[in-house]
Amino acid sequence: MKTSDRLKKIPPYLFVKIEEKKAELQKQGIDIIDFGIGDPDLPTPQHIFQKMHEVLEQTDSANYPSSKGEFAFRKAVSKWYQKRFQVELNPRDEICCLIGSKEGLAHLPLAFIDPGDFALIPDPSYPVYKICTILAGGEVYPLPLNAANNFLPELDKIPADVLKKAKMLFINYPNNPTGAVADLDFFAQCVKFAKQHDLLLVSDLAYSEMGYDGFKPHSVLEVPGAKEVTIEFHSLSKTYNLTGWRIGMAVGNKEAVQALATIKSNIDSGAFKAIQFAAAAALTGPQDCVAQNNKIFGERAKVLIDGLNSLGWKLFPLKATFYVWAPVPQSETSASFTEKLLGKCGILVVPGNGYGTAGEGYVRFAITLPKERIAEAIERLKKHNIKFS
Ligand SMILES: Cc1ncc(COP(=O)(O)O)c(C=O)c1O
Repeated sequence: MKTSDRLKKIPPYLFVKIEEKKAELQKQGIDIIDFGIGDPDLPTPQHIFQKMHEVLEQTDSANYPSSKGEFAFRKAVSKWYQKRFQVELNPRDEICCLIGSKEGLAHLPLAFIDPGDFALIPDPSYPVYKICTILAGGEVYPLPLNAANNFLPELDKIPADVLKKAKMLFINYPNNPTGAVADLDFFAQCVKFAKQHDLLLVSDLAYSEMGYDGFKPHSVLEVPGAKEVTIEFHSLSKTYNLTGWRIGMAVGNKEAVQALATIKSNIDSGAFKAIQFAAAAALTGPQDCVAQNNKIFGERAKVLIDGLNSLGWKLFPLKATFYVWAPVPQSETSASFTEKLLGKCGILVVPGNGYGTAGEGYVRFAITLPKERIAEAIERLKKHNIKFS
């Protein structure tokens, strides 16, 4: 058996290795405090479950769904975007349902990238943008995200010869893994840049509903004229604690949404109908569950950040996402510090270099565990004299 050259170009998915390591230590009886994968530990709101049960009873719920999404789901997305961002979207051709936004982000390069084309991809970033550009035969041009630049890419530093071959620009704010946020001015610059250089602007808005202390993230589509060049991805995973249900959407530029829908219709047969109807109920129903989630995540972020700051870190309060991006002490690398935390303290974090070369020197904490466990992690750091210096 001979696998493809394509397969040789990609690593195993970041979390596969981390989950294996965790299982190995748990087998040895070690109590792991897990800040690893960002999977909400809070329950899916009851009214969403109820809708799911109702729809399951309907006889046609087991049939093939429409691959770009049931019209009722697309209408709910359109209503939600109007209410949340005052953005108009035509449910007929500006919205496509996804089996989780990861699926859509992964398929998109197949619709836009030919061998030799470039995609401009933040570094560090959610690994799917890079890996699926490579799988489509494209080249990745990394855009370093540094603390000095508030973790925003410096678009004016991209060389002209790269820009000539570039087809897509990925952005993701609120950002995984850095927790950084961007304002509408930055989004307007990206739209202008995409228009100037004939790029598809790909906005990953997976964390738009996780804002703290009154911070409400924007959609790129709020920028006037953005729809001419932008496709935006959104996910219900984190907003409504249903990562395993696999439901999200791609919206915006009609040609881009339809191009993705064409790829998808040839590969998958859409998201399970019952999930689509339950997701529509989530988007159009009461939103107090989102505020309750954010209250909990906001408190957890404070416990972690205050705790780390008491040990020498100088982290700012978290404005959005459930990720805390912490620099490692000077004598450490991302990998050595991750190993030290796991080996000495039983604390699992993700090494920053797993998200790209510019992530070296950082680790990511996902605060998807109760604040008592976060406080316990800080105690373990103190006990083992682990400080930031
Ligand atoms: C930045 C970002 N985008 C997209 C996703 C995918 O979310 P889902 O496929 O569950 O919708 C994630 C998941 O962690 C993410 O961090």
